Amino acid sequence: MLSSKMQEALNGQLNAELYSSYLYLAMAAYFEAADFPGFANWMRVQAQEELLHGMKFYDFIGERDGRVTLAAIEAPPAEWDSPQAAFEHVVEHERKVTGLINDLVELAGKEKDYATHNFLQWFVGEQVEEESSARAVLQQVKLAGDTGGGLFLVDKELAARVFTPPAAPAE
Ligand code: FEO
Repeated sequence: MLSSKMQEALNGQLNAELYSSYLYLAMAAYFEAADFPGFANWMRVQAQEELLHGMKFYDFIGERDGRVTLAAIEAPPAEWDSPQAAFEHVVEHERKVTGLINDLVELAGKEKDYATHNFLQWFVGEQVEEESSARAVLQQVKLAGDTGGGLFLVDKELAARVFTPPAAPAE
């Protein structure tokens, strides 16, 4: 059974993951409008992953006999100054999410909620991946500079990313 404090915090993270999905979908729309289908594809896959993260929280709250409550999802921005600005935003956003996960781990420890503490470890590892892959794309975009040709090549590469749903249901 979740404490009310833990339940509230997990519902807050569910909202944060859904916002992340919304943010990346907004970036997908931005890239689609700017004729960068590969960047848009990368963002669409990212948005799907975030929805999956949100569902992991949704399912876990239910498994612990808690109650899922859905709050309003904040509207994301619609425009960025450049592909580089968008990816700088991704890196900054993922760092923020890492901070939120760390706060949850700390709360689970304080509450002596070892099941939640254990559940959160997957997200601790996932955030390392998320930050690292966002930084890698940012680096590629920076190297491409403002040259159309460089960005065209990065766009082509990002078109290959596919969403791979997990084999087992989220635990
Ligand atoms: Fe769900 Fe990108 O963190």
